[in-house]
Amino acid sequence: MSNQPSEKRDTFASSLGILLAMTGSAVGLGNLWRFPYLVGENGGAAFILVYLLFVVFICLPIMMCEFILGRRSQANAFGAFKKLAPGTPWKHVGMLSVLAAAFILSFYSVVGGWSIKYLVMACGLKFTSPEGILSETMFNSFVTSTWPPIIYTLIFLACSGIIIVAGVKNGIEKFTKSLMPVLFVLMVILAVRSMTLPGSGEGVRYLFKPDFSKFTAASGIAALGQAFFSLSLGCGTILTYASYVSRSENIVKCSAQTTLLDTLFALIAGCAIMPAVFAYGISPGQGPGLVFVTLPAIFSELPAGGFAAIIFFVSLFLAALTSAISLLEVVIAFLIEECKLRRPTAVAVSMSVFVVLAVLCSLSQGVLSHVKIFSLNIFDLFDYVSANVLMTFGALFAVIFVGHKLKREDIEDELSSGGRYRLPKGFASALYFIIRWAAPVVIIGLLVAGLIS
Ligand code: PHE
Repeated sequence: MSNQPSEKRDTFASSLGILLAMTGSAVGLGNLWRFPYLVGENGGAAFILVYLLFVVFICLPIMMCEFILGRRSQANAFGAFKKLAPGTPWKHVGMLSVLAAAFILSFYSVVGGWSIKYLVMACGLKFTSPEGILSETMFNSFVTSTWPPIIYTLIFLACSGIIIVAGVKNGIEKFTKSLMPVLFVLMVILAVRSMTLPGSGEGVRYLFKPDFSKFTAASGIAALGQAFFSLSLGCGTILTYASYVSRSENIVKCSAQTTLLDTLFALIAGCAIMPAVFAYGISPGQGPGLVFVTLPAIFSELPAGGFAAIIFFVSLFLAALTSAISLLEVVIAFLIEECKLRRPTAVAVSMSVFVVLAVLCSLSQGVLSHVKIFSLNIFDLFDYVSANVLMTFGALFAVIFVGHKLKREDIEDELSSGGRYRLPKGFASALYFIIRWAAPVVIIGLLVAGLIS
């Protein structure tokens, strides 16, 4: 058969391993870097509230769809559509996901590289004195320089490649299983530290008291985009990981737990960042620089701030790495199963492409900043195209495919793992309604609203 892989398909070894690998993919720069600044820019708790509604009613059902597609087909993102709808153009939707993953990984590894640079600086206790404050000028001069950010990006890519070469069980599962609990503990320590600072109460109120006056239509679009990004939806990662999940696993439970843990991490990251931002009188709407510019300034003034900085940047790096490997696996699974490459060759081939793309993204902050496509530099273009176009369409098509192309019995069979687990009463009907109608309408509505605005 055409999509017979050239080597035996690997699988996850345990339920906990699956959950932590999924959570490892979901928890990343999106939670620690993107979520806090979007909350800051879009009215604090008002944004969180809408975000949570999208997560529960739109994204969780989409995640279940990706689980269904992956586990039922036991194939990569492209192969899944090819297997489930043979001879139709649906396989191109799968290709869209593979492309989305490649685009995201290209700019993601640049930011992953920045996190290594800041970790190295934190270890050198650079954030302990006001003279060491590396604020905006330092951040800008680093990201716009030529070689240093490229070197850190390459180190980041190399780390992801090494883990992926080891495979699903021995690489992805082992690595994420030991790291996710560490990450959780680190983030909780940081959140407690931040929330016990004098003057932090204002930040806690900001996070949890809705201010709808700052919430605009664009905030709604940003909330859905962030929910997709944070839950790793629409780019084949959940689908690919789910294809390594055995028939006996409960995928409804696993999707719900992954969603819950990812959201918890985002809220903990908010609690680690916002109270400290307020305690030190910094504006919460700083944008993407919040983590790299604001936090070092805060760390330098904290008692034991040097230590807090190390904890934070270790967390940021690890979270980015566990997400990057899930993006890389989408491409690797595609190359192994569709192009019949062996895993190490697939890693080598894809790495050579990613090195070029990531270097371009890195240079677009500096020497190539004048190269603009649709008035965006390469980094912003990759970010924009993947998060706002490819992922959204990827998620939309996945949900339409499951809702309108698969049979309801097959969906229920997959959700109950062949009748092993009983679904709560009314659950299948409610989910089916969301998948067939509510989710596509909301996504298309927001896409149109985005176009108009
Ligand atoms: N979910 C990851 C984060 O929040 C990013 C990501 C997106 C990972 C898409 C995989 C796929 O950082």
